[in-house]
Amino acid sequence: MQVRGLTKTFPVATSLLERWRGGPRRAVQALTDVHLSVRRGETLGIVGESGCGKSTLARCLVRLYDPDEGSVRYGGEEVTALRGAALRAYNRRVQMIFQDPYSSLNPRMSVGQVLREALSVHRMRPPAEQEARVQELLTLVGLPQSAAGRLPHEFSGGQRQRIGIARALALEPECLIADELVSALDVSVQAQVVNLLLELQERLDLTVLFVAHDLRLVQHLSHRVAVMYLGRVVEVADTAQVFGAPRHPYTQALLAAAPSLDPARRTAAPALQGELPSPLNIPSGCAFRTRCPQAFARCAEERPALQPLPEGGEVACHLYSPVTSGAAPGQLDKVTP
Ligand SMILES: Nc1ncnc2c1ncn2[C@@H]1O[C@H](COP(=O)(O)OP(=O)(O)OP(=O)(O)O)[C@@H](O)[C@H]1O
Ligand SMILES: [Mg+2]
Repeated sequence: MQVRGLTKTFPVATSLLERWRGGPRRAVQALTDVHLSVRRGETLGIVGESGCGKSTLARCLVRLYDPDEGSVRYGGEEVTALRGAALRAYNRRVQMIFQDPYSSLNPRMSVGQVLREALSVHRMRPPAEQEARVQELLTLVGLPQSAAGRLPHEFSGGQRQRIGIARALALEPECLIADELVSALDVSVQAQVVNLLLELQERLDLTVLFVAHDLRLVQHLSHRVAVMYLGRVVEVADTAQVFGAPRHPYTQALLAAAPSLDPARRTAAPALQGELPSPLNIPSGCAFRTRCPQAFARCAEERPALQPLPEGGEVACHLYSPVTSGAAPGQLDKVTP
């Protein structure tokens, strides 16, 4: 999957008075010029503070939202242009799995019925083969065969999550997009569901986008990690590189702020200072400069583009961009936020 220049804004309701005065129409800049590629068969983790646009990105990828600008290509096909049957086919191949499958499970349908329905609506199996496939799916997600006859409310949170995954797998997807899949579960149950996802990813050669707050889960599960800040991808690299030698000052601060990560591998960067600026009013130049301990003059003037690093991965930060104007970054004056 290739994401290029993806931008999404949400208009903010303005009062009549404001409009009568001719005030500017304001918009939440949820995604700005996002670039990202996801390789077949990999798990890509997406991390960043609350409100940085992770869910908006996930939703744009499955066309729950239409982006304002930019392109999403899947296997060479332009996703943003899909309509009708082609869009339905895409949504079968690339599926979002939700945090709370309970809200989307019919409370009066047994798990077996839910799965059989998925199989028949999408004509995945002829009726004669459905029963066997339901049993197969339950085994795949580690639920007992007897689960088929029970109703969703009879299951715990972690088990419901497994039902949600089984329903997604019924359609034989190539790619799963999991947005805060396990955030609402207890830590011990989280690990079980994440391990299930890991196992399924390997066995079925799935491509997985794993959106999460919890850096430990992302580290455990992902081959590569993309770090987002205020609607942009600021760093993307192999998991070992992001966690072992993070480049972007934001990534460094995010890791330093995560209490549970291995202290031996922690960087010396100070934890995040200040608050996340409003997405209604994103700072000029580099959006992170107002909180960045290493910001210098260029950061306020010019927005850093995502650039490849010699050691692999990409980063959007002037500390690593070729200097256009004489002096080296360290020699320039610090910017006062
Ligand atoms: N439907 C919407 N209408 C208006 N604003 C929205 C909508 N969805 C998201 N936003 C805004 O877009 C920005 C990005 O939100 P998004 O939900 O994508 O962030 P997130 O990274 O998923 O956050 P979290 O970690 O809390 O889930 C936020 O400022 C949010 O308020
Ligand atoms: Mg979200």
